[in-house]
Amino acid sequence: MGQDQQPVAQILLQLLRSLGILHDEHARSSEKEEPVATTIGTERELSEALNNLIALDFDAIEAYEAAINRLDNATYAEQLRQFKGDHERHSRELSAIVRDLGETPTTHASMKSLLTQGKVVLGNITGDKGILRAMKSNENDTNTAYEQAVARDDLTPRLQEVLQRNLADERRHRAWLEACLARL
Ligand SMILES: [Fe+2]
Repeated sequence: MGQDQQPVAQILLQLLRSLGILHDEHARSSEKEEPVATTIGTERELSEALNNLIALDFDAIEAYEAAINRLDNATYAEQLRQFKGDHERHSRELSAIVRDLGETPTTHASMKSLLTQGKVVLGNITGDKGILRAMKSNENDTNTAYEQAVARDDLTPRLQEVLQRNLADERRHRAWLEACLARL
């Protein structure tokens, strides 16, 4: 009996395939799954990298806030306030891009804030020179992070443009701190 049923089932399957029901359905779903899965994987990895940058920008914001509150020199404090504003803009712009990628942007500093802010707040740092030196050390980290980000090969032109602009900001922050420290 089983021998009789087998060919009938096969004929039925062939008929369904020839009508474009089974074969096409199957082909379409397997064609669909692969590229979608690949795209999701790539976008998730990219958004994770962007979230790491956002967290680092939040670290920098916290560190700048602490530094601004402790600086004696009002001119330095004003300059650092502008740098803090750059980091706030970075986090806003990158958050919008992460949302466009279908992921959730980070809303707070990373664990690294203990290091970045700590360099200013907890490190027994006294005097403007010490604070600026700590901020320069923080800016070394942000420069490195953005240099690595712009070197990625999965960036859209828009993202490349945003990251290059942010890197230019980071270089400007560090250059100002270096020049300022050289005079002190
Ligand atoms: Fe910076």
